[in-house]
Amino acid sequence: MTINQKQLGGTDVMLPEIGLGTWKYRGGAEPLRHGVKLGAFLIDTAEMYRTEDVVGEAVRGMRDRVFIATKVLGGHLRYDQVLGAAEKSLRLLGVDCIDLYQVHWPNSRVPISETMRAMERLVDTGQVRYIGVSNFSVEEMEEARAAMTKHPIVSNQVVYSLKRRGIERDVLPYCQRNRMTVLAYTPLASGSLAPDSASGGRKTPGRAARLMGRNQGIETLQGIANETGKTPAQVALNWCVSHPGVIAIPKSNSLARTEENCGASGWYLSSEQLDRLDHTFPV
Ligand SMILES: NC(=O)c1ccc[n+]([C@@H]2O[C@H](COP(=O)([O-])OP(=O)(O)OC[C@H]3O[C@@H](n4cnc5c(N)ncnc54)[C@H](OP(=O)(O)O)[C@@H]3O)[C@@H](O)[C@H]2O)c1
Repeated sequence: MTINQKQLGGTDVMLPEIGLGTWKYRGGAEPLRHGVKLGAFLIDTAEMYRTEDVVGEAVRGMRDRVFIATKVLGGHLRYDQVLGAAEKSLRLLGVDCIDLYQVHWPNSRVPISETMRAMERLVDTGQVRYIGVSNFSVEEMEEARAAMTKHPIVSNQVVYSLKRRGIERDVLPYCQRNRMTVLAYTPLASGSLAPDSASGGRKTPGRAARLMGRNQGIETLQGIANETGKTPAQVALNWCVSHPGVIAIPKSNSLARTEENCGASGWYLSSEQLDRLDHTFPV
């Protein structure tokens, strides 16, 4: 299995285009460790998720092979709060350095310059390698970038899937122009783009057919899955990462589905198949 890699922003770091999300993650260390071994060595967590400890457990003994991304809560964006939150994340993760530290949500009550001063301080002290944001609009990215004094913002983590294509209007082209990687969250639309495997691989033709009948998009996805010999989840993720500068971070508690998601890279949908998906799931 090969997972293609993409450059992180304008840095010299290469990341897998499929990473591992951990919101509501309950799978224990093993699925994450397995994903890393398959090449999905980017793990995304956040102080909000309460999964930093399991991420720490998963990376034990292979820290140097994993790129850890975590986030500071939108309610903790005062200078001292950011520094305190980073200390806590480092402790829970059991590591010396966070590879990518992201502002989880913008907060209009705190000047972004104050937050970014703390983020830059964390890079200077060596506690953070790269700074990212999440859920930032173009305007908010502009403001945040203007507040930086010495380090760049290398990524924006935003919702993106066949069912949620809004970023194609503005955020995605902005990031592509400005060398910011897009970390696509909820890329499987919470599992709804993979009705078959969401049932745990059990054969539930009645249920699947009902779901598909209700949703022509899923039928198209299933059709392309049949043509390519891939699963609907793999097709949905491959579509996501077919966009330059986009990395998808699906979450799965299951080792088998983690492996399935890792198999979404290393092959290409044809332009006709991409067009069909674009047409069926309009922006
Ligand atoms: N920055 C933000 O504000 C933000 C917001 C939301 C999410 N995120 C990040 O993005 C990650 C992914 O997003 P998400 O967890 O919301 O949604 P997602 O990855 O689109 O979907 C996760 C759901 O899909 C199921 N699933 C995973 N792989 C599957 C497969 N191959 N076939 C069928 N079902 C599958 C999972 O079930 P099982 O676990 O049972 O397999 C889970 O119920 C999060 O974990 C988090 O790291 C960030």
